[in-house]
Amino acid sequence: MIRIAIDGPGGAGKSTISKAVAQKLGIVYVDTGALYRTIGLYVKSVGVDPKDREGVSRCLDDIKIELKYENGKQCVYLNGTDHGDAIRTPEMSMYASAVSAIPEVRAFLLDTQRDIAKKNSVIMDGRDIGTVILPNADVKIFLTASEECRAKRRYDELIAKGRDVKYEDVLSEMNQRDKQDSSREVAPATAAADAVLLDNTGLSFDESVEAVISLARKTGLI
Ligand code: DC
Repeated sequence: MIRIAIDGPGGAGKSTISKAVAQKLGIVYVDTGALYRTIGLYVKSVGVDPKDREGVSRCLDDIKIELKYENGKQCVYLNGTDHGDAIRTPEMSMYASAVSAIPEVRAFLLDTQRDIAKKNSVIMDGRDIGTVILPNADVKIFLTASEECRAKRRYDELIAKGRDVKYEDVLSEMNQRDKQDSSREVAPATAAADAVLLDNTGLSFDESVEAVISLARKTGLI
């Protein structure tokens, strides 16, 4: 068994790199951001302000979240329905960031994340994996890249999906969200004291994947 924790700001490539590492090592990739996005989607659907702690906390009584793997792909079921890419919009990024600052939301999602790592070898990405969710992870990486590089990657990703966005807007939304995520009181997005800082600004995608795999191999667990 191996547990790899990957934290870091938006646009560092956490999810694409983690997905590739999971495939190469034959372990499970857990995208924890999808859980917060799904809560955000529900909160929006019932017209609650995502920053309203009491309102959002009340919503949790009506939410059942299940993490399932279908053909190797992670699916998040919200009250029995998988909403697919509807959680991937820039609006849902902001909703997710807002609800993720609410302690009750973080507590609500804790066991779902820990349970999957109890039963499987995982590479789990998020903001507090190395600090809160898996404090005893075998490998902890804080993945980052320069601000321009991260914004450009996000922008290219959205353009490839056919979205009509401006680079400047992507940059400012990304910075706003990172600031919000790293300055919140509960489980702020920071590197664990024992995390390896991996700045992939000058690395290709394959080199980034290799860098993570080589850190995993050093543990002797794979
Ligand atoms: O990784 P992502 O962009 O899908 O995450 C969406 C938001 O969810 C992010 O802005 C902050 C929050 N999040 C979190 O607080 N903790 C995590 N482990 C993962 C995501």
